[in-house]
Amino acid sequence: MTTDTTGPVARDGEPRPGGPADSPLIRACRRRPSPHTPVWFMRQAGRSLPEYREIRASVPMLESCRRPDLVTEITLQPVRRHKVDAAILFSDIVVPVAAAGVDLDIVPGTGPVVAEPIRTAADVERIRPITRDDVSYVDEAVRQLVIELGDTPLIGFAGAPFTLASYLVEGGPSRTHAKTKALMYGDPELWHALCGRLADMTLTFLRVQIEAGVSAVQLFDSWAGTLSEADYRRFVLPHSTAVLSGLVDAGVPRIHFGVGTAELLGAMGEAGADVVGVDWRTPLDVATGRIGPDKAVQGNLDPCVLLAPWPVVEAEVRRILEQGKAAPGHVFNLGHGVLPETDPEMLTRVVALVHELSSRRADQG
Ligand code: CP3
Repeated sequence: MTTDTTGPVARDGEPRPGGPADSPLIRACRRRPSPHTPVWFMRQAGRSLPEYREIRASVPMLESCRRPDLVTEITLQPVRRHKVDAAILFSDIVVPVAAAGVDLDIVPGTGPVVAEPIRTAADVERIRPITRDDVSYVDEAVRQLVIELGDTPLIGFAGAPFTLASYLVEGGPSRTHAKTKALMYGDPELWHALCGRLADMTLTFLRVQIEAGVSAVQLFDSWAGTLSEADYRRFVLPHSTAVLSGLVDAGVPRIHFGVGTAELLGAMGEAGADVVGVDWRTPLDVATGRIGPDKAVQGNLDPCVLLAPWPVVEAEVRRILEQGKAAPGHVFNLGHGVLPETDPEMLTRVVALVHELSSRRADQG
């Protein structure tokens, strides 16, 4: 039988040895033994890197997400510099929302701002379904990246319905999510219609990325932690489940992440994740107790720790690796994104330390 040496999966369906589907990241996501604990950082491509700031100085955020040459270069920058175990596609959670026809912008220092917030049934109608052609630049960038990355896996991502809805309803970032919750409690039917549309859009967006060759996907429900478990189960879980369970046959691991989700970790796993992202508030061994033994965990260094002297960082990395041993698979990451003021040298040192402390001889499994 001929072995396909280009794709992530050999023709017999087994991961090509040494290819992205056999990488430490994907092995850990699948709870298989891995030569070391894989490490990558949310927002690893971004303002902490001078080479990123240079590119972005003359190009607005959304435009940079729509230019495959820039997406490719920015995505590769942290891989070259830090030797992380995965690349994450440079994009933003609002990219498919803009492709669906919603007028929005990403304002530097603020985040996504929506020109006309979505608050009525007529507003919901304005979010039209997307097709591959609406996001062809993402398809093109992923295909280019998969070639450039070789054996390093590329993580695709999307925003989860709740977090997307919160930007659309508020019109921008919010601390309390008051308008979002007012709509959710006040008009559950409209809420479910909005989230249903966003779930369809998200599923299409992730499928485009998977068909183009990403090795894993992460669903960001960054702001779900603002809800009680009961409300999360009633208003959010069905929609996130529609996305994640819609990818069950896609053949790539699914990571599900949120911030402040200590009370939601079990439910977020139930939504259909292979890996649950944990922020710094919950130790990974405690998190594993809540998530259960059949899922891997990802996390959970406080991004602010990287602003402290190295001995503090080192002690925290050691603690997290120890607590991560309680889980059947551990992907080292921060508990949320890299802060722009982070010294990139700290990130490079964390990668080297995670690799050194976790490297296992093959015979140890
Ligand atoms: O390296 C990576 O992790 C990939 C790139 C990435 C971006 N946004 C690029 C970006 C990813 C995964 C996202 C997802 C995203 N976007 C989320 C979920 C993750 C999270 O942080 O919780 C959310 C909530 C957004 C919405 C958003 N977009 C915010 C809150 C901001 C920050 C605003 C600011 O200027 O501080 C953005 C803009 C954004 N997205 C930047 C980057 C690199 C900064 C833009 C710039 O460089 O000016």
